[in-house]
Amino acid sequence: MTAISELPEIDFNTALYQEHPFPILAALAKKWRVARSQRGVEILDYDLCRQMIVDTKLGTGHPRLMKVLDLPDGPVLQYKQGSISYFNRGEERRKLRQPITRLLSPKGSERFRRDVQAIVADVVSRAPSTTSVDLIHHICDPIPSRVYCQWMDAPKDDAAYIAKTSHLVQQVHTRDPARTGDIVTAFEGFLDYADERIAEARKTPSDSLISDLINVCDAGELTTADLRNWVIKLAEANTDNSSHQIASVIIELASRPDVWMQLRSEPNLIPVAIDEVMRLRPRSISTSREALEDLEIDGVAIPKGTPVFANIGAAHWDERYYPNPSVFSLQREGQPGHLNFGGGIFSCIGRHIITIEIEEVIARLTQDFPNLRLDSARFEHTPMFTNVIVLEATLRP
Ligand code: HEM
Repeated sequence: MTAISELPEIDFNTALYQEHPFPILAALAKKWRVARSQRGVEILDYDLCRQMIVDTKLGTGHPRLMKVLDLPDGPVLQYKQGSISYFNRGEERRKLRQPITRLLSPKGSERFRRDVQAIVADVVSRAPSTTSVDLIHHICDPIPSRVYCQWMDAPKDDAAYIAKTSHLVQQVHTRDPARTGDIVTAFEGFLDYADERIAEARKTPSDSLISDLINVCDAGELTTADLRNWVIKLAEANTDNSSHQIASVIIELASRPDVWMQLRSEPNLIPVAIDEVMRLRPRSISTSREALEDLEIDGVAIPKGTPVFANIGAAHWDERYYPNPSVFSLQREGQPGHLNFGGGIFSCIGRHIITIEIEEVIARLTQDFPNLRLDSARFEHTPMFTNVIVLEATLRP
């Protein structure tokens, strides 16, 4: 059996990885099925990657992540320890997930489509359309954060605070303890915000998501602590991921004017186009797990407690499954679905609603701005994520 120390090592801090992460990962996956990096074991092979995402011997990596960050004792760590991300398979995880997966199921998410359409129309109408503007600021951040405000019956002016907080708290995935202070401060403010929202919604019930969550709590399916944790988690996991993915989709589609025009005349192709961007340039380059016991992956001995990463970026560019993986194609019918939202019992709870949000953004932009011109776009790639750090465009009706 091979020891982890004998595995080849990947260095994610190279300029080459920064510039071309997906071809690099795909090339490495051709040489090595499993490798190691500073953060743990890297699963590069497509089939192993799919298997490990649902492997019952692998559990959540979040408790260790909090140790890596040296998160101090206190209300933030307590929130983390009570939230879904801390729980492995079992009754508690099932109990916590079930009501939210029901509320945000494909059907549950669909009931928000009209609200999403109204938010997208409003946000887009406010963006200057004849000069070059920062679309992260004008479109990508406001949409998911406004949707969250609507869910929480919060004033829409809170959206900027929601977006800023989500970007800050998601810095946990940098695994950099130098960020812990900022993360804790952002979370602390948000714990109070969640309490205020719940108190407000209890006073004035409505048909919003927060009232649904309160009803679930009052019916005994969730405790009051669970309720608060979900109000926080739905902001934490939401805007940061969603904003970066909305931005990537705009960049990948608008940089192909023929595709942009095709989506304008055939909007039924928008879901296919979004799935293809999520394969080609996924927000999630990897997702994390931890070995729950001593185990073996592909002949490699993995001791209990080892962080293991499914390399989604490598899997999405495996030419055995996606011929010509670097080519954007609307003809990938029959090829496997993407892994941008992970899978199994840890899979992304917001995947249906965010897909609806992105569909509505692209439908609106292609209809209103057939001549949208990208002025400047820049990506940054970490081992975990694709970030869009610059997106300037002239909308041009
Ligand atoms: C494009 C945007 C998004 C991406 C790429 C994304 C991706 C992911 C990934 C990769 C995971 C981990 C899956 C795994 O390890 O198997 C995850 C978990 C999660 N996501 Fe998302 N997500 C997005 C948007 C959202 C939104 C909008 C929400 C909330 C409405 C959300 C809520 C969650 C929650 C609660 C979890 C934890 C699930 C659990 O531990 O059971 N995400 N997401």
